[in-house]
Amino acid sequence: MNNQKSVFITGAAAGIGRATALSFAKNGYLVGAYDIDEVGLKSLTDEIDELGARVITGHLDVTDPDEMAERVAEFVQAADGRLDVMINNAGILLAGRFEDIAVRAHHKEIDINTKGVVNGLHAAFPFLKATPGAVVVNLASASAIYGQPELANYSATKFFVRAITEALDIEWNRYGIRLVAMWPLYVQTAMTEDIKTGTTESLGIRLTAQDIADDIVKAVNPSWPRRVLHQVHYPVGSQAKSLALGSRFSPAWLTRLVNKRISHN
Ligand SMILES: NC(=O)c1ccc[n+]([C@@H]2O[C@H](COP(=O)([O-])OP(=O)(O)OC[C@H]3O[C@@H](n4cnc5c(N)ncnc54)[C@H](O)[C@@H]3O)[C@@H](O)[C@H]2O)c1
Repeated sequence: MNNQKSVFITGAAAGIGRATALSFAKNGYLVGAYDIDEVGLKSLTDEIDELGARVITGHLDVTDPDEMAERVAEFVQAADGRLDVMINNAGILLAGRFEDIAVRAHHKEIDINTKGVVNGLHAAFPFLKATPGAVVVNLASASAIYGQPELANYSATKFFVRAITEALDIEWNRYGIRLVAMWPLYVQTAMTEDIKTGTTESLGIRLTAQDIADDIVKAVNPSWPRRVLHQVHYPVGSQAKSLALGSRFSPAWLTRLVNKRISHN
């Protein structure tokens, strides 16, 4: 195994995935950047080349388990057998009243946001197991704190991400693999460009993709208190931190009321 650490990122052509790819490249990692958007990957490659870092890119639809297995295996081979970090980032968001969104669109959101993560975890497992100190980062969301009106299906997919992260962090501890979930509130990316919900109105869209990328780098290499406490969930930004903390200590009726109020429902 060589000395250069490696990171595999899904949905890396834009937004949080792209900012994360650039941050890991700046931190000396070999970056594997995968997406369905090959034009976006090309411009990311140019940007990483300019940094003098190395990136491997390729087409990957996370809903296809065979393509996922092929891309991960190819990347790990190029990385001389090591996979230090697997980032399941690709996702989509549909906002609006549940009944107004076509059922097949709901299914697509479930396929990308949940099955895409399952495919990534499954394909990466043998390589993570073979790499000492390996970490998985899954993109959950502050909508995994309490079911979000106007984002019901999206929010449910992020509860899935939350649960699978918690469960496998315990299950894979025996192999030395750590799992973390990032919980940002709204982030200024293409995902939120055209959405308007009660919570975007009341809470705003304040975070940048770089804010999340910075916290992902920190979660992969945690400070000693976080390491000792084995922190699994990482709310990003002060709003998500307060909401996560509040929901832990407030009674269920109060959490529901707060969510009803901030979503203007
Ligand atoms: N933007 C937010 O407000 C926000 C908040 C919390 C969590 N998140 C989560 O962060 C992650 C990234 O979101 P973002 O804001 O950067 O979104 P984005 O729309 O800016 O980027 C998502 C990327 O995923 C890619 N993608 C979509 N479907 C794919 C598929 N089937 N296979 C592979 N790639 C695919 C897109 O091409 C795009 O490059 C998502 O999981 C999202 O749910 C976002």
